[in-house]
Amino acid sequence: MTLPLFTLESVSKSFGKVPVLHDINLSFHPGQVTCIIGASGSGKSTLLRLLNLLEYPTSGIIRFHDAIIHQKGYSVTTLRSKVAMVFQNFHLFPHLNVLQNCMLGPLHVQKRPRDEVEQTSRMYLERVGMKAFIQASPNSLSGGQEQRVAIARALTMQADVLLFDEPTSALDPELVGEVLDVMKSLANEGRTMIIVTHEMAFARDVADRILFLDQGQVVVDGTPQEVLQTSTFPRLQEFLKRYR
Ligand SMILES: Nc1ncnc2c1ncn2[C@@H]1O[C@H](COP(=O)(O)OP(=O)(O)OP(=O)(O)O)[C@@H](O)[C@H]1O
Ligand SMILES: [Mg+2]
Repeated sequence: MTLPLFTLESVSKSFGKVPVLHDINLSFHPGQVTCIIGASGSGKSTLLRLLNLLEYPTSGIIRFHDAIIHQKGYSVTTLRSKVAMVFQNFHLFPHLNVLQNCMLGPLHVQKRPRDEVEQTSRMYLERVGMKAFIQASPNSLSGGQEQRVAIARALTMQADVLLFDEPTSALDPELVGEVLDVMKSLANEGRTMIIVTHEMAFARDVADRILFLDQGQVVVDGTPQEVLQTSTFPRLQEFLKRYR
């Protein structure tokens, strides 16, 4: 087994007095695609956001490789360039064109050379089928196109891990497939991805592992077959009924 990219040891998170995640113990390995499922409010986004320090744990330890990421002196900027996030609502900059959106972080945060960044951005925009739109404004794109640009932008950061928080749930149904297809092809390349999703068919086909979160705890953790077919955990069965 490879060394884990992330290790969470007894991680808990509360907002004020409200506990949201309890005693999470997990590791994530390179090359693995993990899908996180669970009811609304179960803590899926919070778990994902802890991994790139959009939230800090209340207690416990989160390591990326060997380093404790929430320790004083650890660079959040470095972490975020290794751990890229794709959000439900794309978060593209409306005043920049597609190519500029991809180039911004690598140029200004990572301080990489412009020529290399432009070449890498163009390569990934082509990879997600957006080559023809590099001069376009995000406002002129469909949601599916915007999300594919957001994925290209994350890839341009040359991150070790891609985090996705419900990347298709803001899309019209006819646009979901084009985004899932891009994600599938990335999974087939062996990229490490951690994906919060309600797309059960996608999770079944693409995930190496599925985590079911219930009230802030990982209560089922296994292969798609184990989680989606053979688990007899009552709250999981109840949850899955809504997606069949
Ligand atoms: N910044 C915050 N301040 C206070 N409470 C928060 C904050 N973020 C999340 N919560 C609360 O934490 C709980 C878990 O939220 P989280 O967004 O992680 O759930 P989720 O599983 O992603 O839900 P959904 O499927 O609706 O996106 C919820 O009760 C939510 O209201
Ligand atoms: Mg969420």
